[in-house]
Amino acid sequence: MENIPIFDPSEEIKKVARIKSMDEYWSLVEEAKKDYEGFWDRLAKEKIDWIKPYSKVLDDSNAPFYKWFIGGKLNVTVQCIDRHLQKRKNKAAIIWEGEPGDKRVITYLELYYEVNRFANLLKNRFGIKKGDRVVIYMPMIPEAAFAMLACARIGAIHSVVFGGFSAEALRDRIVDAQAKLVITADGAYRRGKPYLLKPVVDVALSKDCESVESVLVIRRNNEDISWHEGRDYDYNELIKNESGHCEPEIMDSEDPLFLLYTSGSTGKPKGVQHSQAGYILWAQLTMEWVFDIKEEDTYWCTADVGWITGHTYIVYGPLAAGATTMMYEGVPVYPDAGRWWRMIDEYKVNQFYTAPTAIRLLHKMGEDEPEKYDLRSLRILGTVGEPINPDAWMWYFNKVGGGKCPIVDTWWQTETGGHMISPLPGATPIKPGSATFPLPGIFAEIIDTEGNKKEPNEKGYLCITKPWPSMIRTIWNDPDRFVKSYFGTCKKDGKPVYFSGDGAIYDEDGYIWITGRMDDVINISGHRLGTAEIEAAIGHHPRVAECAVVGKPHEIKGESVFAFVVLKDDEGIADEVELTKEINEVITKDIGPLAKADEVAFVPGLPKTRSGKIMRRILRAIAKGEEIKQDTSTLEDPSVVEKIIQIVQK
Ligand code: PRX
Repeated sequence: MENIPIFDPSEEIKKVARIKSMDEYWSLVEEAKKDYEGFWDRLAKEKIDWIKPYSKVLDDSNAPFYKWFIGGKLNVTVQCIDRHLQKRKNKAAIIWEGEPGDKRVITYLELYYEVNRFANLLKNRFGIKKGDRVVIYMPMIPEAAFAMLACARIGAIHSVVFGGFSAEALRDRIVDAQAKLVITADGAYRRGKPYLLKPVVDVALSKDCESVESVLVIRRNNEDISWHEGRDYDYNELIKNESGHCEPEIMDSEDPLFLLYTSGSTGKPKGVQHSQAGYILWAQLTMEWVFDIKEEDTYWCTADVGWITGHTYIVYGPLAAGATTMMYEGVPVYPDAGRWWRMIDEYKVNQFYTAPTAIRLLHKMGEDEPEKYDLRSLRILGTVGEPINPDAWMWYFNKVGGGKCPIVDTWWQTETGGHMISPLPGATPIKPGSATFPLPGIFAEIIDTEGNKKEPNEKGYLCITKPWPSMIRTIWNDPDRFVKSYFGTCKKDGKPVYFSGDGAIYDEDGYIWITGRMDDVINISGHRLGTAEIEAAIGHHPRVAECAVVGKPHEIKGESVFAFVVLKDDEGIADEVELTKEINEVITKDIGPLAKADEVAFVPGLPKTRSGKIMRRILRAIAKGEEIKQDTSTLEDPSVVEKIIQIVQK
């Protein structure tokens, strides 16, 4: 941690920021420490338009199933839309650009009508009621946001599935959630070409999806798609008949708002369940604290709505804060590596939030590309999803931010609902690559399994040792897994605390540095994938006897998939290239192209302990070309390590 430069917030930023100094930061931290419930009580009262006030801030009587703002009634769409209509009805709520260059600006008043009509359609035409699950499998078009908000309006629980997931992955999620309706689009545009989503839904629904009664299809690219009479409905036709006013369902603070499936280290993806009040409070507050969002700002987060970042920082957070949120349909490099910089220039974007993998890609493809555009509107830059390397950070800071924009490196997870550890742009002296300090009210600590705080430079478990309002409430259908996955590893003062799955260290100044996952989860281009899921997919190839997957550092993606595969037969590996292709086909079919293996090694066996546990640490070292430091003599067959090394080095 030596020789790390420190970047203080500029006077210009300090002047305008909500939190203007570390003193102000520490006083908020102290406020939360002294009176934890009082702190959240104050914020919840200040920030949320309650339909009925709550009677208690926190109920921890059934930990870790914490409840927040007990008895409070609200509707998240009132927080995101209705309450802005007095002051901001003609303000742009969403600015959208399609990849081909088509544009839409949706004002808050228009958003109100769109969401209300959509909500009426769900209610009247499809009989969707409070608590029903609706799967949203959509491209990045404004209707994706309308669909989410329409569900929230009537109290239905949405489960957005990333459009890059395969039919099988989509089916698993539909079945687990027992969804009644699937909302999709014919397709969209990507890399200059139309692609289709509806056919994927057709395949997903071809078996096991009895819960699904209807499919609502939004027309985006008017490509030819097949139509199942009696099941499929045309959104663009039906929406015309609906009225633009729908009474918001009165929701309890703790009613579920949405499910979002994410990978764990074992088994199938988990349906992370979020609630209403706590989630929206934190989504809005972090928009204000971390992005320091102002009335006139144009804010752009480049994530996809299929991930938590898209939920909290494209849809719910910005809208709750009354901001203008941008949405873009396509890839960053179409038609060239200047696309995003051109958009920042054209829309005068003030906050820009993206992933390190995209920064690395754009850096590689166009070192000086940002200079061709006027990016002076930018005030704050952000990153999320994985640690950012110094090279990418410096380029982002100098070339994109013109050396004047603080970079907020936000550490958080699907489960946390919103930012947990992040610099505050007007306060925190930033060290590139560090997420710096926990936000006020968030007790993020690096500890051992007994709760002892780690010394500087000692790696430990990154835990959140007090509950927080936007935390995961449970895993859908699997409360035991919820308890085991998050509260089964670390304790503090004898009580189980939330363990994130990440390792981290403090430096001498108390800055937090995330070291990466401590479990068998890998992070590819900022997307979380369980090695167990990829292994299960590879296992579906008829010739595969067993396999093990590890992550290998990758220049652009952060990590890539390296698969070690043992074949069943002795036919030999006549055509490695062909087999590798086939293996990637099964991965694409089961999960989606994002989980494809960059490298596949066909090996005679896997390094296992005598009890049969695969030693992934050895495989990780081999994949990286590192020396094996572990003792291999305890393996069932120590000679296998040498054989694997030879194959990989070949
Ligand atoms: O390992 C951490 C990494 O992404 C994981 C969470 O993934 P997901 O739930 O898909 O959410 C991604 C977007 C919030 C974490 O456990 N991660 C996220 N942000 C950072 C990070 N690693 C380092 N630095 C970050 N800023």
